[in-house]
Amino acid sequence: MARMAIMARMAIPALFLLAQLGAGCASSEKSGGHDDASEPNEDDDSQDDTQEDEGPTWYTNVKPLMESHCVACHAEGEVGTFALDTYDAVSIVSEYVADAVEDRRMPPWRAAEGCTDYRDDIQLSEDEIDTIVEWIDNGKAEGDISLAKTGQPIAVEGLERVDFSLELPVPYTPDDSESDDYRCFPVPWPVGEDVFVTGFQVNPDQAALVHHVIAYVADAGYGEALLAEEAEDGQPGYTCFGGPGVIDQSQADWLGAWAPGATQGNFPNGVGVPMDAGSWIILQVHYNNVAGANAPDQTSIDFQVELDAERIGWIQPFTDPSWLDGSSMSIPAGVEGVRHDFEFEMGMSLDIHSANLHMHRLGKAAEMTLTKAVGTEDCLIRIDDWDFNWQRSYVFDEKKTLEAGDVLRIECEWDNPTDEDVNWGDGTSDEMCLGSILMSLP
Ligand code: HEC
Repeated sequence: MARMAIMARMAIPALFLLAQLGAGCASSEKSGGHDDASEPNEDDDSQDDTQEDEGPTWYTNVKPLMESHCVACHAEGEVGTFALDTYDAVSIVSEYVADAVEDRRMPPWRAAEGCTDYRDDIQLSEDEIDTIVEWIDNGKAEGDISLAKTGQPIAVEGLERVDFSLELPVPYTPDDSESDDYRCFPVPWPVGEDVFVTGFQVNPDQAALVHHVIAYVADAGYGEALLAEEAEDGQPGYTCFGGPGVIDQSQADWLGAWAPGATQGNFPNGVGVPMDAGSWIILQVHYNNVAGANAPDQTSIDFQVELDAERIGWIQPFTDPSWLDGSSMSIPAGVEGVRHDFEFEMGMSLDIHSANLHMHRLGKAAEMTLTKAVGTEDCLIRIDDWDFNWQRSYVFDEKKTLEAGDVLRIECEWDNPTDEDVNWGDGTSDEMCLGSILMSLP
């Protein structure tokens, strides 16, 4: 269905294209306005400030790094389970901190080095990792408070303007009989005319519980089925896992995926995603009950909408249509390193702005690449150590262009240690291999 979906989606924006394009393209490049502001604010001179005798200190070298790279999640009430915002807090867990940063598990950023450059890259540089580790190895000197430096958090862009917010219609108390509760909430789209969404931002209510949120869009026609599903267990929303439930994953458009710390705000490069009057938003919320006390959650999303968009975009799911029948993406029991891949030759030119990969829990690695008609290969996204908990869209530093004749390819790899054969499906024990790409007309 990817093929058909691509075709069907072409038709709509193509109409707008004739009316819209022409002069605006080149000048619209910087429309987001936050390109520069979102550069990682690396504390370049942290090494220079290192005092000869005692090496890096908390106040001068480590505190600013915690503030720029960790505290957005590791503070009271946030998702990171423990705080890293004071000398004492970090000292207590310093061995774990050293291990997590050396291993690049933290801050969570799964896009592999050397694929392509992304904006809002929250990773620590090698020098920064060395500074933290050296500080710990040298006995965690506190240093001189009068030399204290402050770090600005990376990637907290937010929206240029909030037009309205949608919240869960009724607060939902996650089911804590399981460590993870995946719940989908259908929310009617309240705008009575066709508009473009130019940005959105998730505001987790119980920040310590909300581990990730994926916003899907469903056509008006699905409203009845969504409400029927919701009515089943008498609680707000319905249980869902790897997709929006009710609707086949490839039929529901993604609006975006959000994980803590990855505030995305406006779509890049002035892209607006068309949203029809009468649509539904399906919010898939992953509650992780290990982190916090179980409490009613009423997460909301802020939206920015426009009647017109500089670039008309959409998030294109990309997968092998034949996998969707649940029998042709076989991941046999007990086998490691199972791979499947799919290629598609582009029929027209498009700009692409961000990429996301989606598998379930057996996923090990995945990538999406573009082989240009001239033969060169361009990596869009590669994840070498897939972690279901850390899904997000990675926005390219500079938009890329797909041209007619280029071949788009996705490949996924799984280890299946279970004694069940696994195939494509929505459930916790099923798998997927799905890319999504924010595209726009050139
Ligand atoms: C985007 C949010 C986020 C950011 C940013 C973040 N963490 Fe975490 N961190 C978490 C969450 C959530 C957990 C709980 C375990 C999990 O869900 O993976 C965690 C777990 C940890 C753990 C224990 C588990 C492990 O893998 O060792 C350590 C140590 C840690 N973080 C250190 C850090 C440090 C140091 C930074 C900054 C350099 C940082 N984290 C940045 C969210 C974050």
